[in-house]
Amino acid sequence: MNILGLNAYHGDSAACLIRDGQLVAAAEEERFRRIKHWAGLPTYSIDYCLAEGGLSLVDVEHISINRKPGVNNWRRLAFVLTRRPDPRLMFQKIRNIRRASSAHEALEKRYGISLKAQVHHVEHHLAHLASAFLVSRFDEAACISIDGFGDFASTAMGFGRSRAVSIDERVYFPHSLGIFYSALTQFIGFPHYGDEYKVMGLAPYGKPEFLAQMRQIVRIQPDDGTFRLALKYFRHHTDNVSYSWNNCAPEVGMLYTERLIDLLGPPRKSGEPLEQKHKDIAYSVQAMYEEAFFALLQALHKRYPSPNLALSGGCAMNSVANGKVYLRTPFKKMYLPAAAGDAGGAIGGASYVWSMIANGKPRLHLDSAYSGPAFSDREIEKLIESKKQQILDAGCAIRKIDNEKELCQRTATAIANAKVVGWFQGRMERGPRALGNSSILCDPRRDDMKDILNARIKRRESFRPFAPSILREAVSGWFEQDDDVPFMMQVFQIRLEKRALVPAVCHVDGSGRLQTVHADTNPLYHQLISEFSRLTSIPLVLNTSFNENEPVVCRPEEALDRLLLTKMNLLVL
Ligand SMILES: [Fe+2]
Repeated sequence: MNILGLNAYHGDSAACLIRDGQLVAAAEEERFRRIKHWAGLPTYSIDYCLAEGGLSLVDVEHISINRKPGVNNWRRLAFVLTRRPDPRLMFQKIRNIRRASSAHEALEKRYGISLKAQVHHVEHHLAHLASAFLVSRFDEAACISIDGFGDFASTAMGFGRSRAVSIDERVYFPHSLGIFYSALTQFIGFPHYGDEYKVMGLAPYGKPEFLAQMRQIVRIQPDDGTFRLALKYFRHHTDNVSYSWNNCAPEVGMLYTERLIDLLGPPRKSGEPLEQKHKDIAYSVQAMYEEAFFALLQALHKRYPSPNLALSGGCAMNSVANGKVYLRTPFKKMYLPAAAGDAGGAIGGASYVWSMIANGKPRLHLDSAYSGPAFSDREIEKLIESKKQQILDAGCAIRKIDNEKELCQRTATAIANAKVVGWFQGRMERGPRALGNSSILCDPRRDDMKDILNARIKRRESFRPFAPSILREAVSGWFEQDDDVPFMMQVFQIRLEKRALVPAVCHVDGSGRLQTVHADTNPLYHQLISEFSRLTSIPLVLNTSFNENEPVVCRPEEALDRLLLTKMNLLVL
């Protein structure tokens, strides 16, 4: 039984293929198209997933789409009658719903076939909840999705047990923590779709000077732990805030009103210097988000006093808040998917459909993120052969190493010698993070590594931290909390006595956004870090995504181009 899961006509379009309860393939469209957050019909990802499964689209029995036109219609109607929004906003919403509901027609047109598959529209947040709970190893868990918007809701709470997951409370449009964070991200001068992580990285440089103002913007509801936005500060519910796709890269119009400027003073324009005030606003935004986040989680736990939490939605990418869940709530264990945002809705919808048709067969479990394209040694050899002269002209030498132990030893030695190493191995990761298969690796011990990386390759804002990949078995010795964090979705404090040993991966507040590396899910990467640990007594490396302000590399050609165009020292394919 083949289920093709889609997130289409939405940021981070993606596809996956589930066959008889196993994930065959999953990937985001942006990697193939080379445009960040690409939104549209993800035909390249569909083609990849079908090829990986040896199928054509006509063979697929079920297709899931993580939108359900018509859901929450009474709420939509009540909103229109009471708020009377700009007709253009209404038109935009209706067009969006129509697109989502006609995805199967678009597929038929694009592939020139008549689909045999049954098409399932799964409510946006149900797909988010499913993308966490239904692929976790929990028998039961409290579930929550915290997001921008999808199907007229921003937040959904529910419970998962065995093969079932359901929603029983929602926060509806126009109230949204995602919109709050995005609007303030724009205010601080980061205008692009998906820039919120920059505010999270900037926050530790500030103080809570604007927290009182933030509490005027976001009102936590003491009765049920949910929240409301003070709508006078926002435009998304009255004006036609454009969500345009420039060449299918999402662009968002201004989300805040003049009233926010009255409250906080003039906004920073993109490119202007970052002053202490901007850092203080960033700190206060993050602190406000955490207040609202923990109020939601406390309310959720009160309703479902399970030790387990399944967490997803775009806001679940806030790894700083996620890292405090065990410290500030009664939850003892959580599962976050590798793609917590909308790309994960492809797997969420498909796993939801599988749970309905599985007839007692087991759920799928996703312990690793390696579900994308891989390339054979033969393909890589052919590529190197074809580019040999260019490689030699760039002053590079080519070595073929057949022995994995030697490969790891030599690579670990290069890292320990302050080289910037491209590491392109195995199947590409799904989700936004490079997790040791499409990574750039460096020595975490060097104080200047961050500057070297930024100057040579990454060219990103100097305040943003780099992250460590650490052997799973070493976590408790290096971090103040101990957990599986395979998808780099939690930030923990590095132990005080260890911070000076790894300055390149220690943020200004002593935290690190760790990835735990497990011998059973990525043996080669585990072996590499083990070799580095043998050489240096440090069981972690600096891991940053293999890219330069573009989607993470997908094909070996792109990895090789990075070597030739940047000042990377070594590429291991
Ligand atoms: Fe979403």
